[in-house]
Amino acid sequence: MCGIVAYIGSRPCRSLLIEGIKRLEYRGYDSAGIAVITPDQTTGEPALLIERKAGRISVLEEALTHRPEIDGTLGIAHTRWATHGEPNDANAHPQCDGPTGSAQCRGITLVHNGIIENYSAIRTYLEEKGRVFTSDTDTEVLCQLISQLYDGDLQTAVQAALCEVTGAYAIAVICEHEPDTLVVARKGSPLIVGVGNGEYIVGSDPAAIVAHTTQAFTLDDYGVCKLTRTGFHTTTIDNLPVTPKIQAVELDLEAIELGGYSHHMLKEIFEQPRSIEISLRGRIHTREGSVVLGGVSEFARDLVRARRVILLGQGTALHAAMIGEYLFEDLAKIPAEVEYSSEFRYRSPIIEEGTVVIAVSQSGETADTLAALDEAKQRGALTLGVVNVVGSTIARETDAGVYLRVGPEIGVASTKAFTGQVAVLSLLSLFLGRRRFMNANHVRQLLAQLANVPTMIERILESSDAIRTVAERYVDKENWLFLGRGYNYPVALEGALKLKEISYIHAEGYPAAEMKHGPIALIDENMPVVVIALEGPIYGKVMSNIAEVKARQGRVIAIATEGDTEIADRADHVIYIPKTFRLLTPLLSVIPLQLLAYHIAVMRGCHVDQPRNLAKSVTVE
Ligand code: G6P
Repeated sequence: MCGIVAYIGSRPCRSLLIEGIKRLEYRGYDSAGIAVITPDQTTGEPALLIERKAGRISVLEEALTHRPEIDGTLGIAHTRWATHGEPNDANAHPQCDGPTGSAQCRGITLVHNGIIENYSAIRTYLEEKGRVFTSDTDTEVLCQLISQLYDGDLQTAVQAALCEVTGAYAIAVICEHEPDTLVVARKGSPLIVGVGNGEYIVGSDPAAIVAHTTQAFTLDDYGVCKLTRTGFHTTTIDNLPVTPKIQAVELDLEAIELGGYSHHMLKEIFEQPRSIEISLRGRIHTREGSVVLGGVSEFARDLVRARRVILLGQGTALHAAMIGEYLFEDLAKIPAEVEYSSEFRYRSPIIEEGTVVIAVSQSGETADTLAALDEAKQRGALTLGVVNVVGSTIARETDAGVYLRVGPEIGVASTKAFTGQVAVLSLLSLFLGRRRFMNANHVRQLLAQLANVPTMIERILESSDAIRTVAERYVDKENWLFLGRGYNYPVALEGALKLKEISYIHAEGYPAAEMKHGPIALIDENMPVVVIALEGPIYGKVMSNIAEVKARQGRVIAIATEGDTEIADRADHVIYIPKTFRLLTPLLSVIPLQLLAYHIAVMRGCHVDQPRNLAKSVTVE
């Protein structure tokens, strides 16, 4: 949610900054901006130059073609997802410390990711001091506070200002009077500092820096770092010294490029056979019927004795967590419940001895999930993270965890992270199940099928063209229903979410039987209904639901099991998936739904990878 990039070194950094925010564009894309400090063309004195524009980064790039002077060896840049203040030029970052040329200006400007929660009180205080504001943002308030407290040392002013704010921030700050200084700080929002040869590149995530360096450090919450061309000095906001650990960043550039696909989402859908294979690699031992999860082994005894599991997440991660709830109860026989992190946090949850709280998150930075985790920790729960981004805040703040290992996910609509989350939750349930009640043979059978999932997904991906043909038929329909039961109820929710997110079609997911209690009123010939109707104990009941839809002229697109000869007569369209154990079916049934949403969004001319109003990583509550 908002991407920041900053540079200090010896080379002109304009193109590096723009390229960096482009790599972070998935974090927000409603406005963008850049600021540099560079010698004035006539006086040679350091001058602060800024350009910022509402719209995608391409709009900023166009504006910059008329501003060749904006380049230099110290700069900051930003791509925004608006929180306070609508996305217009004035509210875009970098934010300054007052109207250009006014007496209150000390040439300070900053970019910010997060929310300053007490911005209103600080703004009132600053206005009483006579300061004039030029935007509606909480970010300008922080910039003006730094400016108000500035007494010739930027780092000190930043520290002092941050002691006054509540909320979340990752910031990069520069000042016209200190052309050799870049100050960065963070609390709650991610920030990584790349250490190059005589230069530093700062970004919201490694994607912004890996083209230039693979050595980097992260700041802890309340960390402030002053970077110059010759070194860096890190402290807390209270000025206590901190020594960050420089580590190698593992991110392959190819993994974040399109590689011949038209969209990241499509690439990521097609990557799933491989991403799941990598996620399982080394963790399943089919012959022995065992699961090895290094990240939780230290806590195996506590986990085996767990009395209750609470799974938390938001968005797609919540849907994966819902499948986890079924898995933990079925396999590990541990009572499990799932909840939106945002709700869990505010309802005085009861955490008894033996409660394990599992935070599910692709980014590992979702603010609601972080806050819920904090609540769970304070109440004494053992916490686990099921997270994709290595070293992310959730990964660091949980007692233990299992990484998804699905590689970077760039498309805002989550696909391979979902299947990675379900695969890891399957492994965790088997890990516990085997240590509790499951016999080796049962685990062995499940593991053999799990190992076969990548091949089965490959087969489903071959239906992409056929799914596009179905999509063509219904591309103009504005309301969709997705139905599923048991393990496939969360998949129905996920199918509806995918369609909503990227094609702006109204879609709802329901447990199939619940259809009769309301949604059925909506069904007519204009309502496509996607029904996950797989073979199993409730197949007959789902067939009845299909009949109920058909009786009301609804159009049925069924996701069915290969070899089902009956369904073709009942549904208007059938997409087949290979037969597997019921509890593994979500890993397969979701694939056609991802493809369906993708093809519809493309046909409707939507911005698939960066849908309107959304952001990949939601770092505000
Ligand atoms: C945003 C994204 C979703 C994602 C959700 C949770 O809404 O657009 O794709 O599922 O956040 O994110 P997380 O990183 O915690 O999985």
